[in-house]
Amino acid sequence: MWNMFAKCSPSRLRLAALSRTGGLSLASLARVARDPVAGIIFTPLVYTDSMSGAADKTFYLETFGCQMNAHDSEKVVGTLLAQGYRQVPTVEEAGLVLYNTCSIRDKAEQKVFNRLADYKKYRAQGKQFGVLGCVAQQEGEKIFERAPYVSLVCGSASYRNLPQMLVQLEAGSSRVTGLDDRMTDECFETEFTARTNPHRGYITIIEGCDKFCAYCVVPFTRGKERSRTSVSVLEEARQLADLGYTEIQLLGQNVNSYRDPSGIKSFAELLVVVASVGGIRRVRFTTSHPRDFGRDIVEAIDATPALCDHVHLPVQSGSTRVLDAMSRLYTRDQYLERISWIQSARRDISLTSDLIVGFPGETEREFEETLSLMDLVGYDSVFTFKYSPRPNTPALRLEDAIPEAEKARRLAVLNDRQKQIGARRNQRHVGQVLQVMVEGKNVARGQWVGRTSQIKVLNFTAPAGRELATGSYVDVRVTGCFPNSLIGELAV
Ligand code: 5AD
Ligand code: SF4
Repeated sequence: MWNMFAKCSPSRLRLAALSRTGGLSLASLARVARDPVAGIIFTPLVYTDSMSGAADKTFYLETFGCQMNAHDSEKVVGTLLAQGYRQVPTVEEAGLVLYNTCSIRDKAEQKVFNRLADYKKYRAQGKQFGVLGCVAQQEGEKIFERAPYVSLVCGSASYRNLPQMLVQLEAGSSRVTGLDDRMTDECFETEFTARTNPHRGYITIIEGCDKFCAYCVVPFTRGKERSRTSVSVLEEARQLADLGYTEIQLLGQNVNSYRDPSGIKSFAELLVVVASVGGIRRVRFTTSHPRDFGRDIVEAIDATPALCDHVHLPVQSGSTRVLDAMSRLYTRDQYLERISWIQSARRDISLTSDLIVGFPGETEREFEETLSLMDLVGYDSVFTFKYSPRPNTPALRLEDAIPEAEKARRLAVLNDRQKQIGARRNQRHVGQVLQVMVEGKNVARGQWVGRTSQIKVLNFTAPAGRELATGSYVDVRVTGCFPNSLIGELAV
C-alpha cells in the first residue's frame, strides 16, 4: 500500500498539458490534494465532458488515501461519466458530492464527519452526498444517523454496483448502500476508467486482503482477497499501450499474493507478460508482502529490462517478537533472507519499506532492532508511521500502549536514521547516467523533474531553449544528491 508519487510535489511542477484522456477533454487542474494519511500528494484532474453529452447531472469527487484509492476514483469517475454525469471542480457546482475515504491511520472517520458537517449548509440546495471507500465500509449505516443529508454509503467491494446505485439516487432514494459485498469473488472490472496521468497507467490486479495484520483495517474495509484473471489484466495493459502509455503500475494490497483465477500465470509470469506488451517501457508493482515474496520475482526483474529496478517490501518492525504480535507471518531472518535475494540480483534494485513505531508492547530494545534492520538493509527510502489503534483490529486488545510522546520520539529517531542512510545510498548514483521519464518542470527553479527506474526523483537542468515533453525518456548525468532526491544535468 504505497504510492510512487509520494515525496514528489507536483504542486511545484508546471504540469504539461495532458492531452490523451481516453477520448474525453481534460480541462482544469482542480487543485492539489495532500493525502492526510500517507503523505501522498496527487493532482485530481477534472473531466468536463460527460460521455453522453448530458450537462445537467454533475458531480464533485474528493479522494483521500493510497494509490489504490486514487485509482478506484479513476474508475468511479469513468463509471459516472458513462452514466451521463459531468465532473465539476467545486462542491458549489455539483449536484452530487462524493468523498472517497481512507481509514488506515489516525482518526480518519472523525475527519470525514467533520468534513461532512462543513457541507451541511448545502443541504437546502438539494445536493446529494455520498461517502465511498474505507470509512464508508467501516462506519456503514451509522453515517446516515450522524449525517442525515448523506444518501449514499458504499465500500470499495461494491463499486461494480455503482450504476444501479446511481439509478436509485436519481429516483430520489435517500439511503442507498453498497456495504454487503466484502465476501465477493468479483473485482471492480470496468471499461470506463478516467485516467488522470497520460503516461503512467494504473492497473488493479488484486483487491482486498486476507492477511489480517493485527493493526490493519484493510481486510475489514476492502474485503476478501480476489485476483483478476491474467487475460483481463493483459487486455487492459494492451489497451493502455494502444493509448500511448509507456509505464504501467500494477496495484494491489498484496500484489505478490496474486493467484490467477484462470490458473494460467503466477505473479512473476504476469510481470513478465505485462512487461512484454509492445510500447510498454516500464512496469512497476506495489505493494509486495514479504511472506509471499519469492525468488522468481527477482529472477523476473533480472531477465526483463522493462521491469523497474525497485521493490517496495514493507517490514513494519525489525523485531521477530513484534512481527509475531503484528501477525506478519515472517521473522526478521526470513525478511532479511528475501532482502539478500534482491541484493544478489544482477540489477541494482532499490529497496523501500513501511515501518511502524510504538506498536503495543514494543520495548526500547525491540525498537532498536528496527533501527539495526534499517542499517543492515540500507533502504533507499521508507515510509514511517506511529502505530494508531484502528476499529475492529486485533491489536486493540493488546495491552502496554506506548505513550504518544514516546511514539513521536521513536518516529523522529527513525526518520533521522533514514535520512543518513538515504543520503549515503544516493551517493552511489553521483557520476552515473540514468534514464528518467520526464514528469514536468519546476519553473521557479528552472529544473526538469524526472523519475528513475529505481523510482528516485531526479531534478535536472537542460541547455537553455531545450524543451522536453512530459512522458519522454531522457538520459541524465547525476551530479549530486540529497537524502530523498538526486540532481543532475541532461546528458547530451
Ligand atoms: N497504524 C500505523 N500504521 C499503519 N499502517 C497500516 N495500519 C496502520 C496502523 N494501524 C501502515 C503500514 C502499512 C502502511 C500502508 O500503513 O506500515 O504498510
Ligand atoms: Fe493491511 Fe497487512 Fe493486508 Fe497490508 S498485508 S493490507 S498491512 S492486513
